[in-house]
Amino acid sequence: MSSKPIKGIILAGGLGTRLRPLTRITNKHLLPVYDKPMIFYPIQTLVDAGIHDILIVTGGNNAGDFLRLIGNGKDFGLDRINYAYQEGEGGIAQALGLAEPFARGHRIVVILGDNLVEKGIVPGVRKFQQLDKGALVYLKKLADPRPYGVPVFKKGQIIDIEEKPKKPKSEYAVIGIYMYDENVFDMIRTLKPSKRNELEVTDLNNAYIKKGQLHHEVLPGWWADAGESFEALLETNQMVARTRKNPTS
Ligand code: G1P
Repeated sequence: MSSKPIKGIILAGGLGTRLRPLTRITNKHLLPVYDKPMIFYPIQTLVDAGIHDILIVTGGNNAGDFLRLIGNGKDFGLDRINYAYQEGEGGIAQALGLAEPFARGHRIVVILGDNLVEKGIVPGVRKFQQLDKGALVYLKKLADPRPYGVPVFKKGQIIDIEEKPKKPKSEYAVIGIYMYDENVFDMIRTLKPSKRNELEVTDLNNAYIKKGQLHHEVLPGWWADAGESFEALLETNQMVARTRKNPTS
């Protein structure tokens, strides 16, 4: 267990090409989801889990919009939010590496800025806090996990994660919520670029598996990868609206 407070990191870069023309003049993570901009949801998820020291890593042509929209985080009861800028498209793990000056020596909870969850992440954060070391990923059971990182299990343990497999070996997706111990930045330095020339978060998680240090938690309630497509964005809007009108405990 670590005594230092956990820090939160939201990854919100990219050019959002799949959502053009919606993303021509703004960042994908600032598009509306029901009554709020998309990025408000992951920020609230962190704050609700007791994580108040937050860094937003952004990039692309409209990074300044984040500052104009979120400022110092008053909407969330915060008095400060930190920002970093990712140049180019180096992948999730490369974006995370930019958080080192902010989070060195701390444990971190990372959320992809377009990942929304219905019921929060308190159980996962609590479990992660109890660990001596290592990492924790959140899983969600899906009818078709092929577009995501998919875990391979042996005796209830994850022994490998395959990125976007054609023939998934389980029914679970590794969603965009990750928790890492203080070694994460050294681990990122050992990664090599993938075929799409990015530092992949799946390779980072597999490096933790090799050390026997990857834990997992299954997410209750719905999960949305809102920025994945127009359909996903529409569906996320509808799910948020339904949940707001008819909240479950
Ligand atoms: C990324 C990760 C993938 C994960 C997904 C969750 O995919 O590489 O493992 O399941 O986020 O949203 P990408 O958004 O790069 O396609």
